[in-house]
Amino acid sequence: MLYSLNTGGKRIRPLLLIAVAGSYKPVNEAVYKLGAAVEMVHTYSLVHDDLPSMDNDDTRRGKPTNHKIYGEALAILAGDSLLTESFSLLTTINEQELTPRDALYLIRRLTEASGATGMVGGQVADLEAENRSVTLEELEWIHRHKTAAMLTFAAEAGGIIGSAPPEDLSLLRPFAEEVGIAFQIKDDILDVEGNESSIGKPVGSDENNGKSTYPSLLSLDEAKRKLRSHMEKAERMLRSLSVPAPDLFSVLSYIEHRDR
Ligand code: IPE
Ligand code: IPE
Ligand code: MG
Ligand code: MG
Ligand code: MG
Repeated sequence: MLYSLNTGGKRIRPLLLIAVAGSYKPVNEAVYKLGAAVEMVHTYSLVHDDLPSMDNDDTRRGKPTNHKIYGEALAILAGDSLLTESFSLLTTINEQELTPRDALYLIRRLTEASGATGMVGGQVADLEAENRSVTLEELEWIHRHKTAAMLTFAAEAGGIIGSAPPEDLSLLRPFAEEVGIAFQIKDDILDVEGNESSIGKPVGSDENNGKSTYPSLLSLDEAKRKLRSHMEKAERMLRSLSVPAPDLFSVLSYIEHRDR
């Protein structure tokens, strides 16, 4: 569990959560615990995503993948336990920081975002879309579920722990959906034109696995235009928040221009 968790990740989901929460009040331990819980769920999804039965990749976060070091059985179990422990961590947040009612709501939202109705559902659709042609609508559905759902949880959780006003809370979800789709488009672009040593995972994995991606379905240029258009929508929603949120603009810019 620590092998996969402790090095190399960009921590985008916790960063998003912290940037949202920090737009409303000072960041404290409760915010970090929520961020850590999201990162644990995300890391489990990567350990399983790399397994031979899924994307069959040998490097992750600049190191051999979990199963390459510990074997498939332990990699599966490390993932299982990262997922389970994340929910336990959520229950340790001080009641003054997160009411039991909000804690229960976030636990439900995290199950929706990570499970069959979210990330796992998207991963299933991603596998079923291998080696066949999909429509743009199908591809967007995959991105929305396998990637945007977890980012959406991160943004909403940041809003709740930061006590954002209801008008802002209702903007944060559609905002993060756009960011999430953009994030996966960028990931697919980096899989084509990225540099293996900076992205810390293999280049060309999608092509090898016959994956359906925007670059494969459209073209690299069209995928870049699509990325920009989702970012524009996200920026517009950010400008409508009741607070200035400069850190959130920085997170957006990092996601769009990152080379890893
Ligand atoms: C990779 O996520 C998987 C996707 C959902 C695109 P990240 O690009 O956030 O991976 P790390 O956490 O930085 O390693
Ligand atoms: C995986 O998408 C998304 C997850 C939910 C783990 P990818 O399969 O494209 O992620 P990478 O490129 O291996 O990080
Ligand atoms: Mg995958
Ligand atoms: Mg993969
Ligand atoms: Mg990828």
